[in-house]
Amino acid sequence: MSNLSKLPDIPNILAAKLAAANRWVVVTGSGVSAESGVPTFRDAQTGIWTKHSPEDLATSQAFEANPALVWKWYVWRRELIKKAQPNAAHRALATLAQLKPNLSLVTQNVDGLHQRAGNENVIEFHGNIWHEKCFSCDRHSTSLEKYSEQPPRCEICNGLLRPNVVWFGEAIPEEALASASLAAAQSDVFLSAGTSSLVYPAAGLAEIALQNKATIIEINTNATPLTTKTDYSLKGLATLWLPAITAHVKRSLENH
Ligand code: OAD
Repeated sequence: MSNLSKLPDIPNILAAKLAAANRWVVVTGSGVSAESGVPTFRDAQTGIWTKHSPEDLATSQAFEANPALVWKWYVWRRELIKKAQPNAAHRALATLAQLKPNLSLVTQNVDGLHQRAGNENVIEFHGNIWHEKCFSCDRHSTSLEKYSEQPPRCEICNGLLRPNVVWFGEAIPEEALASASLAAAQSDVFLSAGTSSLVYPAAGLAEIALQNKATIIEINTNATPLTTKTDYSLKGLATLWLPAITAHVKRSLENH
């Protein structure tokens, strides 16, 4: 947070609400990691992957039909993520969670960058690309062969290992769904950052918060289906708005 002078101003009424709010829910999407160089889900894919869409690769049917292709795609994604560093948005959220201990951070990202920035209790809604589980027996497993050409085998049943992420058509991990829904229902402030709010049930968390009269804020470079339902739409980069919010909360706590 060295560029404080360049950060955008928080609207006055919102500033007062943020300072007073106790229970926060922040839901992040791939827009938060975009400035770390991790392409968003709906961005055009590059290199040899241009002819495939993520929707065609991130499914159990795709893995069944061609496990090596899907595995290779995840190897490529892991390579990208490995080179990426947490950015100012990730760092601001790690600080915000320290300032507001009742903050629940829910991420749809599988890259682990929030944890690398220092957030300890992240609710991983769509799993984590660095973990594996068995496609056959579902047992969680950690493979050392994360970069091999072919999916490694399960030590228990010899099935194929797959990344432990949520694919299209699959259920959200039960515990993540339950704790995120409860936090949304109890939140004073609900902040959606860098997500297209298109994919349910993650997009439904804002609706739970809305029903419970939380202040809804969206940070996004573009309009989304959530934008018209928000109290505050902060248009622009997550790396500017999140540090601005954290700096404001920090100042207001110091002046209290
Ligand atoms: P998307 O790629 O759908 O949307 C990214 C959003 O971030 C868009 O609305 C962009 O306008 C916005 N954005 C991009 N760069 C930004 C920046 N620097 N600052 C602020 N906003 C920015 O990604 P998600 O919403 O995360 O699920 O996608 C949700 C889920 O859809 C993913 O987790 C994935 C996919 O299906 C599964 O794999 C289950």
